[in-house]
Amino acid sequence: MTERLPWRQAQELIEKHTGPALSARPVQEGYNSELSVVINNSVFVKGMRVDHPRVWTQERERQINPHVRDFSARLLWSEVSGGWDLNGFEFLDGRQATYTPSSSDLGLIVTMMDQWPPAPDDVELKQASDRWAAYSDRPELFAGRWLAHTDWSPSNVLVVNGTARMLDWAWPTTGARWIDPACWIVWLIASGHTPAQAEAWANRLEAFATAPTESVTAFADAQAAMWADIGEHAPHPGLAAAAAHWTRHRTG
Ligand SMILES: Nc1ncnc2c1ncn2[C@@H]1O[C@H](COP(=O)(O)OP(=O)(O)OP(=O)(O)O)[C@@H](O)[C@H]1O
Ligand SMILES: [Mg+2]
Repeated sequence: MTERLPWRQAQELIEKHTGPALSARPVQEGYNSELSVVINNSVFVKGMRVDHPRVWTQERERQINPHVRDFSARLLWSEVSGGWDLNGFEFLDGRQATYTPSSSDLGLIVTMMDQWPPAPDDVELKQASDRWAAYSDRPELFAGRWLAHTDWSPSNVLVVNGTARMLDWAWPTTGARWIDPACWIVWLIASGHTPAQAEAWANRLEAFATAPTESVTAFADAQAAMWADIGEHAPHPGLAAAAAHWTRHRTG
């Protein structure tokens, strides 16, 4: 968890790009960025000091943006100076997605995920087989050449004019095409779905419906181990129990 810093510390750098800040609304959701503010209802600025241990995620978001901009927010400008690393995105006027069983957002999310591209060659990406290696003895089953977001917190999904948009591409990963629907399942179960209901949503994506059973089961195990390890630092209290429920459902 990163403490937010007052946006005014970077006001001059921001105004170089936005002009005078006539309004500024600090954003409460999310907790990885030191600075998070909406300027003039038109630009969402996300920033970290250059000495922050995860400042590399800012560069990753810049690099991946051209590949995801159609279903995310466009990057308008960046500023790396004066000790700050700032990204200015188009402000999306939407609301956070809801994952409960009756939510009409779920179909919008399936439609969005269906547009995910293959992993681009010109961006440095995390490898799915490395990311979960500590939690699985078969991590090679997660490898693939598709782009994955992996952080399915509903705070990263905005519903804007009847479409879902995926924000916060800080950890872009290359892996099997079914990895993102599988990560989403854990959040769906934590939001009130049974494992069978959650899998039914993921099965609307062909990549998940046709994924090797053994690979998905190994991934469910890895998710259970990971969320158990994260424990009380998890962004949602039910994730460890949800992942454990999913893996029990698959292994009987
Ligand atoms: N382009 C945008 N337009 C409007 N709101 C946005 C936009 N991008 C992000 N937000 C809002 O700001 C919040 C934080 O953004 P984001 O998730 O990118 O940053 P973060 O602080 O790194 O979060 P996390 O802790 O989840 O990693 C989002 O949950 C969303 O509510
Ligand atoms: Mg976020």
